[in-house]
Amino acid sequence: MNNDHQNNYDDRELALVTSGQPCSDGAGVQLTRFIGHKKLTMLDPFLLLDVFQSDKQHEYIAGFPSHPHRGFETVTYMLAGHMRHKDNIGNEGVISANGIQWMTAGRGIVHAEMPEQESGLLKGLQLWVNLPKEHKMTTPHYQEFSAEKITVEKREDGGEIKVISGKTNKGTTGVIVNNYVKPTFMQVTLPANANFSQKLSAADNAFIFMIFGSICIGNTKKKLSENQLGILTDGTAVNVCSNTATSFLLISAAPLNEPVVRAGPFVMNTKTELMQAFSDLQNNCF
Ligand code: CO
Repeated sequence: MNNDHQNNYDDRELALVTSGQPCSDGAGVQLTRFIGHKKLTMLDPFLLLDVFQSDKQHEYIAGFPSHPHRGFETVTYMLAGHMRHKDNIGNEGVISANGIQWMTAGRGIVHAEMPEQESGLLKGLQLWVNLPKEHKMTTPHYQEFSAEKITVEKREDGGEIKVISGKTNKGTTGVIVNNYVKPTFMQVTLPANANFSQKLSAADNAFIFMIFGSICIGNTKKKLSENQLGILTDGTAVNVCSNTATSFLLISAAPLNEPVVRAGPFVMNTKTELMQAFSDLQNNCF
């Protein structure tokens, strides 16, 4: 087998395209759920992906008042507007456009996530990353970076790669330190008719979420457009060509392959652990 053939064989292709499901969460925030609904319960280790995007105050202003999390990490990436978070152990801050918060909820956090604005566009997403069984009850902690602190790799074609976690082909490393699941999480921005390639671990589950524009993926050149999520086949690299100026998120991680027992904000391995989470919350043990 020659090298070209080998490379083609390892290229990831577009396996599934979804526009998500509209839903409402928190105190009535309108959002689109891409992962974590009936038709796509999870993409191991990713438990949920919600995208909120509205300039209508009534669709976001109610926010996400006080609620718990246990057993996983929440990753909040803002694209426009401001979100304030405040938790039960005194942490507080505002995440603004292109800022990231990587919260390891571990054994438990109770927090509120509320829009820090009364008008204008609020756009962002929240990804839930599962924790391995042995780390589900780890001490909660945060990693938070504003836009200007995020590592950016400039491309010769004028595009750029914002590296949140993982490493680009040129070796630019993300700002987030991952001690448990180690995802690749990057925002790739390209001019029209550009090519982008990124190595990925062969068995990682991987997807692309299109922020704007349109791209073609792999050798089959299947198209992915604005506000669509594309799940990729296995393979050691993803190759993208841009049809228009575009920006998208490339996210991947190795599956945990562990039992998942979940209810709302708790994601554990057994039903007993899930019941314990409810009991601990009732007894103010978070
Ligand atoms: Co939350």
